[in-house]
Amino acid sequence: MKYAIETFDLTKKYGDFLAVDELNLKVEDKSIFGFLGPNGAGKTTTIKMLTCLIQPTSGTANVSGYDVVDHPNEVRQKIGMVPQLVSLYGDLTARENAELCADYYGLSEDLKEERINDLMELVDIKYAQNKLVRQLSGGQKQKVSVVASLIHQPDILFLDEPTIGLDPTTKAVLWELIQELNDTGHTIILCSHDMYEVDMLCDHVGIIDKGLLAAYDTPQRLKDEILEDNGSTTRMNISKIMKDLEENSNVAQVSSFHKLKGSMLEAEIANAREVSMKIDNLCDPMIQELEKLPFIFEITPHQSGRVSMKISNSPDAVTAVLHTIIKNDGDISSISTKDPSLEDVFTKVTTRHEVEGE
Ligand SMILES: Nc1ncnc2c1ncn2[C@@H]1O[C@H](COP(=O)(O)OP(=O)(O)O)[C@@H](O)[C@H]1O
Ligand SMILES: [Mg+2]
Repeated sequence: MKYAIETFDLTKKYGDFLAVDELNLKVEDKSIFGFLGPNGAGKTTTIKMLTCLIQPTSGTANVSGYDVVDHPNEVRQKIGMVPQLVSLYGDLTARENAELCADYYGLSEDLKEERINDLMELVDIKYAQNKLVRQLSGGQKQKVSVVASLIHQPDILFLDEPTIGLDPTTKAVLWELIQELNDTGHTIILCSHDMYEVDMLCDHVGIIDKGLLAAYDTPQRLKDEILEDNGSTTRMNISKIMKDLEENSNVAQVSSFHKLKGSMLEAEIANAREVSMKIDNLCDPMIQELEKLPFIFEITPHQSGRVSMKISNSPDAVTAVLHTIIKNDGDISSISTKDPSLEDVFTKVTTRHEVEGE
């Protein structure tokens, strides 16, 4: 089975309101899939259809080999769910909660004992098995939730914001656990607003906006795409045309031409990349040479020899900057750039839809 989940024009309408709009999504088997989107985008609705809590209005989905419309009971056996709000019984112990879940799936007494022990060891919560759930910390509750959701050995585990509100250390423990579950063969669907978490854990990311899939790829390719999208080619061409116009006609006298030029520069500056370099023998003449480069919009030298620059988002720009420094015998001891983050991707694809009014 190549895909753990495949949706086919999956659609949900609440009355006239289209919450999920002909969604076609594929999640590779045994991968970690990050499901992102602004509030109200349709994530929970999609997950509810995939976990057979609600029926699609039209379209369907295949989950772990079964159709959600035709075989919901089979699907339910194949999936586990860790909901956003912990749905455990506070007045029962961690172990009693797990037992209750095992009973729900009709496990025999022996199997029940064995699985609970194994899972509690896997997620490292056995030490607290006899504590009442309401006395556990947020992270411990999440672990009990994970045990409960895995008791019937599902292929696919849905996690809805599993680390929200947890402290950094506990978050890291859960991340390790998610990775471990994936290593042991589970497909993971991770709904999260934590871009770092998604970037680090997920093999593929789907960003949904207003019920539509706005982006789908690996985190790295999505980030690379931002660079390419913002990239120089189009703007450089326009720059060239403007330059030709300026040099070869009298259009440069017209004030609207200057306005246009100004706004183009603004657009280019908005897409600028931040680069910071440490140059051990930084000196004024070197800075003056750098200032002459048309690719550099802003340059801030620091006492320490570090220079922060905002440079045009084109490969030529980086080359030109390095070339100038080296030509002036500069000793570069470190370079760092602020590359696009998944957050940038999120902001871009989700606002684009708003602008287009889709
Ligand atoms: N039961 C419902 N009845 C009517 N509208 C709903 C219902 N559930 C969700 N919606 C609407 O559908 C849209 C998608 O909601 P949801 O899937 O919960 O978004 P997300 O989980 O991405 O925040 C929202 O506009 C929400 O108000
Ligand atoms: Mg939701």
